[in-house]
Amino acid sequence: MVNGNRAMRVRVGIVGCGSIGTEICEAIDHDELEMELIFLIDKHPERIRELVNRLKRRPKITRSGSEGLSEMLDAVDLVIECASQDAVREYVIPALHAGKDVMIMSVGALICDEGLFEEIVNIARAGGSRVYIPSGAIAGLDGLKSGAIGSIESVELRTRKPPRGFAGNTYLRAQGVELSVIEHEETLFVGPARDAVRYFPENVNVAASLSIAGIGPDSTMVKIIADPTIAENVHEIEVKGEFGKLFVRVENVPSPMNPKTSHLAALSAIATLRGITYPVRVGT
Ligand SMILES: NC(=O)c1ccc[n+]([C@@H]2O[C@H](COP(=O)([O-])OP(=O)(O)OC[C@H]3O[C@@H](n4cnc5c(N)ncnc54)[C@H](O)[C@@H]3O)[C@@H](O)[C@H]2O)c1
Repeated sequence: MVNGNRAMRVRVGIVGCGSIGTEICEAIDHDELEMELIFLIDKHPERIRELVNRLKRRPKITRSGSEGLSEMLDAVDLVIECASQDAVREYVIPALHAGKDVMIMSVGALICDEGLFEEIVNIARAGGSRVYIPSGAIAGLDGLKSGAIGSIESVELRTRKPPRGFAGNTYLRAQGVELSVIEHEETLFVGPARDAVRYFPENVNVAASLSIAGIGPDSTMVKIIADPTIAENVHEIEVKGEFGKLFVRVENVPSPMNPKTSHLAALSAIATLRGITYPVRVGT
């Protein structure tokens, strides 16, 4: 039930006015969340303008950079990063130092930027802040987290995309892989998540979330397949452990605004935000 008292609402600042930021702002604007939008930041001012024009209740502050950030942070309870890996260091670290809660969508930064995850945990612990990392484009993190309370033998992610989903990948170009001639499914990479995120930055978020929830980026194995017979991005997750086995398959529809982002990622961000103010938490 939405709380009618606006003073009780969580005051939110959002960094990133792209596909995920827009869906979150619209959910706040349509009163789907007990939240109030205070600031919007995007390095492209036109992105801010486009988004603000869609909203009935416009934020008080908009900026194209981090100037005046500490005053902006004073005005909010929660900062949502839905921008880019760089933005995690630039905005999440100051927000935590200011004692604010944060939500991180560019979760790949947490394994690509050495030491960042530990730094975030330490600052959040010292300041009593919460760090929310939504499941994003995958499902199954609940079972993996539960299983990891016991022992986990293996975690494997198989990501399958149409060949055009890898267009512009520099690692494949260096390997001499010609995407346009692939007629049958072809395995492009097998290895640990830490290497997968280096060679396939487009898969970085899913591999990072799994690594953090489970057994880390060196033990989480990733297989990447180009499959000309499919239209959607498919993630299959297989976990084996003391608890038994888990298998999850997600067939993702792309976001209407950004084909690289799965629609489920924005929905999972909104579901996480709903969980912050709703008194009952279902699922692990
Ligand atoms: N966790 C997941 O499973 C998952 C799934 C999809 C996307 N993502 C990540 O979430 C983030 C947002 O995705 P999206 O689809 O909304 O992207 P998008 O490209 O549609 O929008 C990102 C916006 O952020 C802005 N931006 C980027 N870096 C910035 C910075 N340093 N400072 C200010 N503004 C900045 C861009 O100008 C852009 O308007 C991306 O990093 C993406 O990789 C995570």
